[in-house]
Amino acid sequence: MLPSMGDPAGLLLASVDNAHFTRAVSALKFGNTFKTTERSRYPLTIKALQNIDLLSDGIILDVGASDGVGSLDAIKSLPHSQYFVTDLNTSIKHIEDGGKHYFFDSSGQCILISSQRFVWYKDLHNAIWPFKQLACEAFSGAPTVNQLPCKTINLFNSEIIHRSGVTVQNHNLFEPWGGAKPSLIIAANILNRSYFTDKELTRAISRLIKNLKGDGYLAIVDSRKQERASLFCVTAGKLELLDSINGGAETQALTLSITL
Ligand SMILES: C[S@@+](CC[C@H](N)C(=O)[O-])C[C@H]1O[C@@H](n2cnc3c(N)ncnc32)[C@H](O)[C@@H]1O
Repeated sequence: MLPSMGDPAGLLLASVDNAHFTRAVSALKFGNTFKTTERSRYPLTIKALQNIDLLSDGIILDVGASDGVGSLDAIKSLPHSQYFVTDLNTSIKHIEDGGKHYFFDSSGQCILISSQRFVWYKDLHNAIWPFKQLACEAFSGAPTVNQLPCKTINLFNSEIIHRSGVTVQNHNLFEPWGGAKPSLIIAANILNRSYFTDKELTRAISRLIKNLKGDGYLAIVDSRKQERASLFCVTAGKLELLDSINGGAETQALTLSITL
């Protein structure tokens, strides 16, 4: 129960502007990952990426991109023919009932409830009395997606959806990428130890490397506080560290220990 967080009910306004849309999306939490994002979140990484030899006919794949506004700098300043803005959680279902907004993930589980005064997250083990009890009551009283009229809301920002050369897509970064092979993959503020175990991180990063078009680049960014990033290059089946910003991403050593 975090009354001071952004209110996801902003997603329901037909007239919501792009900035408020991003704030509303940023308040959502699926499982243990927030969709927090903002513009110009990793300028040093963008600068480093401008120094590599990306081709104008190349593909860029951005994973865990939330509503996509964090990708705008890369879209505007890096050469590419197609830029894929992807995320695992690309829509949310909504029901309004009794003055409360209920939000559901793709499996139909209620993940968040908001009212005029509160936002309840399904994070009950971290909640303290009396909020834990209030949240439990709110979630146990939630309708199911089949019970009442339910609306599906897209979670990509319209500023991204309507850009030429940009494709928004649902994609789980643990899965093989089925589209055209990218020469650069960007993973910003997702591959870190607050979300995944080292075993999961190794599996995810190995998958990203396999998804690259032969020789290519992988940028792993963590800019939740200070911007830290690692830029890797895969050439002739070998992974090398090209650049390290402010000591590198927290998975830098783990990534370098992966055998291709
Ligand atoms: C903290 S946001 C980062 C957004 C953006 N990259 C940025 O730096 O501003 C993390 C995003 O990763 C997404 N995510 C979580 N698990 C994922 C997975 N397995 N595959 C792809 N995206 C995932 C979440 O839905 C969320 O939108």
